[in-house]
Amino acid sequence: MTGVKALPRVRWQDAMARASAEAPLSEEDIVTLLESDPDEAQELFRVADRIRRKYMGDWVHLRGLIEFSNVCRRHCEYCGLRAGNRAIDRYRMSLEEILECVRMADRMGIRSVVLQSGEDPWYTVERLEELIRAVKATAQVAVTLSIGERSREDYRRLRRAGADRYLLKHETADEGLYRSLHPDSRFRDRLRCLLDLIAEDFQVGSGCMVGLPGQTTRMLAQDVILFRELELDMIGIGPFLPSPHTPLWNAAPGTVELTLKMVAVTRLVTKNAHMPATTALTTLDPLGREKAWQAGANVVMPLLTPIRYREQYQIYPDRACLRDDPEHCMGCLALRVASVGRWIFPGCGDSVKHPVHAHA
Ligand code: 5AD
Repeated sequence: MTGVKALPRVRWQDAMARASAEAPLSEEDIVTLLESDPDEAQELFRVADRIRRKYMGDWVHLRGLIEFSNVCRRHCEYCGLRAGNRAIDRYRMSLEEILECVRMADRMGIRSVVLQSGEDPWYTVERLEELIRAVKATAQVAVTLSIGERSREDYRRLRRAGADRYLLKHETADEGLYRSLHPDSRFRDRLRCLLDLIAEDFQVGSGCMVGLPGQTTRMLAQDVILFRELELDMIGIGPFLPSPHTPLWNAAPGTVELTLKMVAVTRLVTKNAHMPATTALTTLDPLGREKAWQAGANVVMPLLTPIRYREQYQIYPDRACLRDDPEHCMGCLALRVASVGRWIFPGCGDSVKHPVHAHA
């Protein structure tokens, strides 16, 4: 073995030893772990799986996803819902259609729903308040919003109306890359929104994409460090998938392997955040969920959106489970969860960082 080759191997072992002992990881440690070779990655996943078990137990939590509008005013370069895309039909589900999804979640024993949309200007804060109250009156579920950037005043009102949680992915913590992907938004504003959501007492989730054009492992280490600094309750990490009718259609997709490494390192660094096996990962690999659950993840988000709308919610193409009806999904998921020796959590699955939140 040459000296040049030997040096990084020692460093990998040091980084892994620190991770395993739950000692703080430096940016260099994180980069080294993200650059694990395939054998090293197996060890990384094993340790992340052990830390997941220690802090989160063997539960897999369900979050029912309701994509209630695909109207969006933004022009994110990677996203199929971007305002400039005329190739998709736009829809807004009616209140009654949304409540029907919530009743279905209730029947399926799903105690947590995510209301997701593009940044749809039709949804004024008054309309959102009405929606949240109606959902809360329909079933005993935790309500998570995933509707983009809003003012702090809006966030306060949405929280008061009964929303419990909020997802706002920062997508990438590298300011230059962020700027190149988001012609009409700024990283600074994204961060401001996340801090506002934390201050308004939401359980807050963020996340990033893996394998964006021009993204390096050092940039991904910055994502992990941001997760740690924000002390997030939830973190979603998925591969970038090129979407038709977007400027990035010809770019290469992210890989399963690097996405799993990001999930594992994020588990090692954040310990007790709720982390989904993302739909984007499952789209890339039919066994993506199982792999993610064994590399640090502990959540899955079954699709509750009516099948007739799903084709239009094309953030990226060929989404996993596009045509599976939700009742079928539950059977499939129960089997998959059992196949890795885990259990579906029967409750709404609050944050374990801020257990003061209750859903009476
Ligand atoms: N590939 C993968 N994920 C994407 N998202 C948006 N566009 C893409 C894409 N082309 C993710 C973003 C967003 C979430 C709803 O979907 O992370 O926050």
